[in-house]
Amino acid sequence: MKYLVFDSKKEASKEAYKILKSLIDENSTLGLATGSTPTALYEEMIADHKAGNFSYKNVKSYNLDEYVGLKPEDEQSYAYFMKEHLFNAKPFAKSFLPNGMAEDADQECERYDKLLEEYHVGLQLLGIGRNGHIGFNEPGSSFDGKTHKVALTQSTINANSRFFDNEEDVPKYAYSMGIGTIMKSDTILLEAFGKNKAEAVKAMIEGPVTPEVPASVLQNHPDVVVIIDEEAASLLK
Ligand code: GLP
Repeated sequence: MKYLVFDSKKEASKEAYKILKSLIDENSTLGLATGSTPTALYEEMIADHKAGNFSYKNVKSYNLDEYVGLKPEDEQSYAYFMKEHLFNAKPFAKSFLPNGMAEDADQECERYDKLLEEYHVGLQLLGIGRNGHIGFNEPGSSFDGKTHKVALTQSTINANSRFFDNEEDVPKYAYSMGIGTIMKSDTILLEAFGKNKAEAVKAMIEGPVTPEVPASVLQNHPDVVVIIDEEAASLLK
């Protein structure tokens, strides 16, 4: 696992975009992440697209996850987030997300896994949760997992409550692409910024590979680039 440390999120995101651009072409399929971490990278993508330097018109994308019970029009849904931060400015050929409003959870997971078979994800973008989760694969998730419905941990609910008016509004469940699927992508680009990610980053890079720290599985992937700022790197040896 290779990691690069930068002074600021802005600088780090510029580098992340350079790496992204070097790895994809107009026909690529991207795995996309939500959260505050990738927003600056998405701004870089939009700026370069607007400048006419890169066309994404044949690019396909799959998102990692979605809250159960939120409609695409709900401002806290990941469908809404993706529109706001990327898709409105730069639509791809096709973009897929789990459907948080699906009536039957098992059928929804099967549907998403079928969709995931259509295109191979060349580059998967990831953030990391404070407890080491990737997507919404919480501690204890199987390393072989496919799409599944997850009961969110209290740590994740607390961390994500900043996007909601009240903590009680944070959904208790989500659909997440599984770790087995994430690991099939050719390259993984994980970004992490800020002091509150330092412990998870240390455990991911220097700790044992264990389901208790889902991101530690990335030590087993042949091509992972971790982009972090000084604060997120502060506990590394
Ligand atoms: C959520 C998402 C993850 C994301 C994590 C970190 O739980 N499901 O994909 O990596 O939060 O979020 P942030 O980037 O806001 O710190």
